[in-house]
Amino acid sequence: MAKNKKNTKFLTKSIHTGNRIDETGAAVTPLHLTSTFRQPSFSSSEQFVYSRTGGPTIDALEENFAMLEDAKFSFAFASGMAAMSAIFLMFKPGDHVLISQNVYGGVFRLVTKVLNDNGVDFDFIDTTNLNIIKDSIRNNTKLIHLETPSNPLLEIADISSVSKLCKPKNILVSVDNTFMSPCGQKPLNLGADIVMHSTTKYIGGHSDILSGALMVNDKSSAEKITLIQNTAGALPSPFDAWLLLRSVKTLSLRVERHFSNAMIIANWLKNHKKVTRVIYPGLKDHPQHAIAKKQQKNPEGKSVFGGIISFELNSAVNVNKFAKKLNFITLAESLGGVKTLISCPYSMTHASVPKKEKEKLGITKNLLRLSVGIEDVEDLISELDLAINH
Ligand SMILES: Cc1ncc(COP(=O)(O)O)c(C=O)c1O
Repeated sequence: MAKNKKNTKFLTKSIHTGNRIDETGAAVTPLHLTSTFRQPSFSSSEQFVYSRTGGPTIDALEENFAMLEDAKFSFAFASGMAAMSAIFLMFKPGDHVLISQNVYGGVFRLVTKVLNDNGVDFDFIDTTNLNIIKDSIRNNTKLIHLETPSNPLLEIADISSVSKLCKPKNILVSVDNTFMSPCGQKPLNLGADIVMHSTTKYIGGHSDILSGALMVNDKSSAEKITLIQNTAGALPSPFDAWLLLRSVKTLSLRVERHFSNAMIIANWLKNHKKVTRVIYPGLKDHPQHAIAKKQQKNPEGKSVFGGIISFELNSAVNVNKFAKKLNFITLAESLGGVKTLISCPYSMTHASVPKKEKEKLGITKNLLRLSVGIEDVEDLISELDLAINH
C-alpha cells in the first residue's frame, strides 16, 4: 500500500497497515504457511530464512502492531506470557525489577515459581503510589512493570509520572496494556519504554486466538527482544498472525462498544441492592478515576474507561447459583472477546496467588470479574439481574 500519510486516522490505519497486496492481487494479506524459505545459494539468503525468525505473515502483523502503539518496532509472540517472559529475559543476575502488586496471576507465577532462582530480584509493590515506587527503587533497579488497569482490581498507575521518575535513573518502564487496548491507552506516548499486550484479548477479540505482542521505540531494547524472540522460539503461527490481521480491522469498533456497554453496566450494578462493591475506573468513586480520565484516551482523544468491571455480590447471594442462571454470559477465564465472559479471580485467574496475599489485596470469593462483550446491553443487564436474584 501507499505510505501512510502523517494525518491518516487510526481507524483507517488499523485496516490498511500490513495489508499487503501481492502479485495475485488478493485484497487481503496472503497467509504463508511454510516453516522454511528457499535460499538463492549456500552462502546467501533473502528476506526470510526460517519461520521461527520471521515470515511474510508475521512481518505484516508486526508492521500493524507497531502502528497500533505508535511504536518504531514491534514483536509478535505466541501468547501474552511469552511476551512477558521476553521482557524479563532482557535482565541479568543482580538486576532488580519492580512489578505492580495486583498483577495478572500468571505473571505472579512466572516470577515466583520460574524466575525466582535466576538471579534477578523482583519486588511486588503498590504502583498506584509514587512515594512507594520512589522508596522501592534501588541502585540496581532496571525495570518497573506496570499493569494498568490491573487485573482484577482495576488499579490505575500514573504512566507519565512513573516514566518521569524513571527516565533520569535509566530505569525502563514497561506497561501491560492488555486491559485498555491501543484504542484506550498509548503508554509509549505517555513516556513508557515497552508496551506489552496479551493480544489473546481485545486485539484478537473473538476468544479464538492465543498470542502476545511487545512494542518499543528504543533500538537497544529492540535488538535485545529480537534476539530473545528468535532464540527462545515463541512466535505465533502464521495462521494466528493472519487471524490477528483480520481482527485488528474491527478493533476500534469493537472496543468502542465494549467500553460503552461497560459504563452502562457499571452504573446499573452500582445501584443494585445485592452488589456491595463495584470497581470500574469510569465511576467517580474509583480511587484513581482522575488519572484514568487523564491517561486513558480513545483515538479521538476522549476519556475511556475499559470493558472490564469487577463487582462483589453480597454474602446472601450464592455465587454458584448465580453462575448457573447465566445464559449468554459465559463462565470462563480470559477477557476482551465479543462474547461477555465472567470469572471468579479468587479461584480462577488468581488461584496461584496465596490466600493471604489475595485477602490483603481484597480479592474475595464473592468478587467477580465481568468482561463486557458487545452484545445488546439490555440483554446483558436482564441476564445479570435474573442471576443475582436467582
Ligand atoms: C493483563 C494480562 N496480562 C497478561 C496475560 C497473559 O496473556 P496470555 O494468556 O495471552 O498468555 C493475561 C491473561 O489473562 C492478562 O489478563
